[in-house]
Parts: sequence; C-alpha cells; structure tokens
Amino acid sequence: MTTQPPKNSISPEYLQLLMKFAERNIHRERLNGIYWQMLRRYVPLESIAKVDNAVIVSLACGKADDAEVQAQYVLENLLSTEDGKARFIGVDLPDSELPLANRANRNDYNGRVAYEFMPGDARDLGTIIREDADVFFISHSEPVSLKEVWKGIIAAMKPKHTKGGLLVATFHNEDEMEALRSMIGKDYAILAATRNEYAIPDPHLDNIYSHKFLLAARRL
Ligand SMILES: C[S@@+](CC[C@H](N)C(=O)[O-])C[C@H]1O[C@@H](n2cnc3c(N)ncnc32)[C@H](O)[C@@H]1O
Repeated sequence: MTTQPPKNSISPEYLQLLMKFAERNIHRERLNGIYWQMLRRYVPLESIAKVDNAVIVSLACGKADDAEVQAQYVLENLLSTEDGKARFIGVDLPDSELPLANRANRNDYNGRVAYEFMPGDARDLGTIIREDADVFFISHSEPVSLKEVWKGIIAAMKPKHTKGGLLVATFHNEDEMEALRSMIGKDYAILAATRNEYAIPDPHLDNIYSHKFLLAARRL
C-alpha cells in the first residue's frame, strides 16, 4: 500500500519557495544588524546638524533592503524633535530591481517615514528630485567598474545635498571606497573611512554583500 500525502499538505515546490523567503528575511535582518552596529560605531554625528524633518535619498538603491534601517537611523539620530518626520526617496534605473523596492511592505515608524522609489538615472538627480537631501545613502556602488557613471552620479549628488548634510556609503572592498572618496573630493569632510569590523566573514553573507567598508562624510 502506498502512503498518500495528507490532504491539504503543501507541495515540495511550494515548501521550497517558502524556505527561500524565510532565508531571505533572515539574511536581510542579519545584514541590517551589521549595518546598524557599523553606523553606531563609526559615524561621528557631532558635526552633523540636526533637522526638524529630513529628506533622505538612497542612490542606486536596488531593492532597498536597507531602507528601513537607514530611515530608523535618521529618525533616532538626526532629527531635532521626537515627532520629526522623514521622507525616504530611493532612486535606481528603471530596469533594475527597483520595482521590488516598491512592493516591499515597510515599517513607517508610526507614520513618521514616507517611502518613495523613483525610477531614473541618478546622473539626472536634479530632474528626479525637487528638494535637496539632508542625508544620502549609497550601498554597494561600483565606482571602480563603472567609474564614469559614478563620477556622473556624484557630480549630480553634490548640488542636491544640503550643506553640512551626511553621506553614508558602504562598499564590497577598499578600492571601491577609495574610488568614491576621491570622487567626493574637497567638497566633503571625511568622518570615517574604514573596514567594518562587524562584517564578519560568513559564507552565506559573503556570497552577496555585507557592508564591508564604510565611508561617512559631511558636505562642506
Ligand atoms: C551592486 S547594486 C547595489 C544595489 C543596492 N544599493 C544594494 O546595496 O543592494 C548597484 C546598483 O546601482 C544601480 N545603478 C547603476 N548605474 C546607475 C545609474 N546611473 N543610476 C541609478 N542607479 C544606477 C544598479 O541598477 C544597481 O541597482
């Protein structure tokens, strides 16, 4: 007699899909934990002016897995009042993973953060966002392999960054960090340029990325 699977049992394919999602969430949580620890440890905020309400822009955000941790960081550290609000704008190319960023169900911290993801070439930032940004985040850019593109993105970012505003960028390796550092040049004061000690080598994380190097700077 053959054993029949119980009625309503889920198929192995569906189970595999569920496992994939579960794995991704764990991955995202771990990654954001690493990012949070890194920001707290290395970014000195004394010279960054607080604002009542913040405009945050994530350049080349992809699916923006780190948007919530970035928003929370700004709410907790860069706002002058406890009921201040933040507008979070992610920008990436239309044929990127940006549509996934739009679909994600995000924590808005009791209505204090409004997320918006805009398709576009970040080299045209001036036409994509109306307002200037108080904080720019760039995670895992490719300023070595896409040098000219990133020169263009940084050139477009500078005039849209409020004076004294914070830039937080993370990288896969030191060469990329140094490349972006030279692109921001004398228009920024470097607050931190360091390997991230929390990005512990881990075969799972290593396959993707884990905020391994950090560049934090203040716009002069
Ligand atoms: C390595 S991925 C990083 C994505 C995301 N920030 C992360 O950490 O997962 C690099 C991203 O840069 C984006 N990108 C490349 N050139 C761009 C441009 N000119 N304007 C906007 N985004 C760009 C790509 O579409 C891609 O999403």
